[in-house]
This record gives sequence, C-alpha cells and structure tokens, in this order.
Amino acid sequence: MRPVEIKKDVYWVGAVDWNTIDFHGYSLAHKGTTYNSYLVLDDKITLFDTVKPPFKEQFLETISQVVDPCKIDYIVSNHLEPDHGGLLPDMIATCAPEKVFCSPLGQRSIEAHFHPQGWPLEVVKSGDTLSLGKRDVHFLETRMIHWPDSMVSYIPQDKLLISQDAFGQNIASTERYSDQINPWLLEELMAHYYANIVLPYSPQVLKVLGQIADMGLDIDMIAPDHGLIHRGEAVGKVLELYKAYAEQKPANRALLIYDSMWHSTDRMAEAICDGLVDEGVSAKLMHLKSFHHSDVQMELFRSGALLAGSPTHNNGILPLMADALTYIKGLRPQNKVGAAFGSFGWSGECIKIISQWLQDAGIEVVDPGVKHKHVPDADALASCAELGRTVGKALKTKL
Ligand code: FEO
Repeated sequence: MRPVEIKKDVYWVGAVDWNTIDFHGYSLAHKGTTYNSYLVLDDKITLFDTVKPPFKEQFLETISQVVDPCKIDYIVSNHLEPDHGGLLPDMIATCAPEKVFCSPLGQRSIEAHFHPQGWPLEVVKSGDTLSLGKRDVHFLETRMIHWPDSMVSYIPQDKLLISQDAFGQNIASTERYSDQINPWLLEELMAHYYANIVLPYSPQVLKVLGQIADMGLDIDMIAPDHGLIHRGEAVGKVLELYKAYAEQKPANRALLIYDSMWHSTDRMAEAICDGLVDEGVSAKLMHLKSFHHSDVQMELFRSGALLAGSPTHNNGILPLMADALTYIKGLRPQNKVGAAFGSFGWSGECIKIISQWLQDAGIEVVDPGVKHKHVPDADALASCAELGRTVGKALKTKL
C-alpha cells in the first residue's frame, strides 16, 4: 500500500489485511482489518508500533516509500500484542534503532515474548515526555485497554493521539479516515470491536476518558492501530461514543439465544419473544447454529436482557450454548437481566445450569426459568410467553 501523510511529516505506513475472518478469536462481521503503524519524520525518525508479521515485506516497502527503514531512530511500542509488536525483533534487526520505548508492563511483555538480548529498551511511564526535535511525545499508560502493557502517545504539536487498539475498528478499505465511510457502518464497526475486545475493561475506559478530559488534551486526530483514523469533528463523537459504550446503559431490547435438538426449544423461544413484545420490548432471536459467538456478543451489547435456551443433553446443555455463555462470561457485560429456558426428556437440568452461567456472567437472573418436557403444548407455550413478560417487566425497571 502507499503511505498516507496524515499530518505534515506524519505517515500511516500500515498494512491492509483484506481477507481475514478470524481476529484473534472473534469472527469479523465484515471480513478484513488493518494493522496501522505511524512514522514520524523529525530530528529523530520515529515509528509507532509495527504490523502483523506476515505483512513484513509490504510493511518495509511502504516505509521505504517515505524513508529508508535503516534511518529509523526510535520505535515506540504502544501495544505488544503480535498484530502490532510481532515485528519488533525484525525491525530492531533491520533498523538498529537508537532506542525502543515501551511502558513498564510493556517491558515485561517484551521480555516474556522475545527474551531480548541487548535491545535498547527505554521504559516510559504516564507523564513522561520524549522530544523528537520539533515535536514531543507525551505518554499515557492505559493498562488493560486492553492488555497490561497498553499505552497511548500524544503529540501536542500535531494535536494527534496515537491510540493503539482503542477507538479502532475492523475494516479493510482503501479509505484511511472514518469520515470517508457511511456513519452507520462506522458505528457498527466500532461497536462490534468494543463489544468483543474492549468491553471487560470498561471501568478503565471511563478512567482514561476522565484523565484525557482532566489533562485538557487538544486532540484533532485519533489514530488507532486498526481501521480508520478519526479527524476533526469525528474526534469528539468517538470520545462520546466510547463513554456511552463503557457506561453500558441498558437498552429496551432483549436477545434470545438458543440451540435445539428436535425444535421444542425453538418453539419456546418464539413464545417467549411474543411475551417480550407484549411488554413493548424489542427482541431478536439467534439460533446458535447460525451465529458465531462474537455476533451474539455484539447483539447482547445492544440489549438489556438475555434469555438463553437449551434442551437438557446428557445431564448438561448443548455445546454451542456452553460456547456462547463461556464467551459472554469472559466479556463481563453489565446492567443486564436474564432468564433460562429449555425442553427436556427426562432429567431436566438445563435451566438450573444456564441460570448459574448467567449469574456467573454478571447477569441478574429475574426468574427461575421455564422448562418443558418434550414438545411444548399450548399451556407450555403460554408459560413461555409469561416468562417473556416477566423479563420484559424487569427490564423496564432498569431503563
Ligand atoms: Fe490489535 Fe490488542 O492487538
């Protein structure tokens, strides 16, 4: 790809990964992403983060269109996950930089990943400033957004925040700026990314947003490590968006996820949906055989209630439900109510198991759940609709 000058003497030199579906564990709704890296030409030529190792050759070619990579003086590692730090050893071997800057926890990550010998590492902390010549770089550690090592770099002379994974999105495109695509698509991409990567660290996000406000940083461009760069008016909008994402206020919307063997649990889901609608709650049904757990997570992020259904299977629940609940639990959703449902043939443990999973995921279980033996009849379906109404009423009290 061609480099793109995003500020005078500041270049995007990243790589576009047009075809990836799997983004370290979650399935991309729209295939593809970018690994962004930024090159600053100043008295000290400085590279911020690298790209995923398979893109090494094109990365070096892109940098070479701006400057000979051997002339890079400094490398800043804002985030060491291999899609950004994986090429550090190669770049250090190629460029022989004077210094490599990282956070204190970044140093530990570098040691654990690469066992470096003789690397010119220099640890920087929140509040430290580095002069590049005409510019300064101010560092702010953003621990657990979303790795311990994470930090951001702010260049006041350019009003530029280089934000590593924060404010990113997964999109492969020839556009480099977020104001060049449909705003609805942008919001969907940002929400999908936040829901699947950043969500568990929402308390840290609110803290960092507060720090940025307190520091009075003048930002007119946010350059993340994935996807499109935010500039001008988009900056304030994405800061507000992240605040709203992190607050996780409940929405008047319910998500029903379920798996089924002989369609009894499907029918229960439909009846529960009717009950939710009776209470004026919008609902979405997702059969787990049709949706990846990361798409389920995106819908849950938009919802205030989760109803999860599986038949009892070998005294347990169906594996796809266990998969979805494991994923959801790890992402620690906040401010949600829920309940379980499912059919059974003889032992009937499903709702007890699922209710425990929901509680463990931090979801407030507002009903013991509904289970029915084999095929639900009209009375059984009426009790399912009643469950929908119960959850709908509970959700309304949270709005
Ligand atoms: Fe894009 Fe956390 O790596």
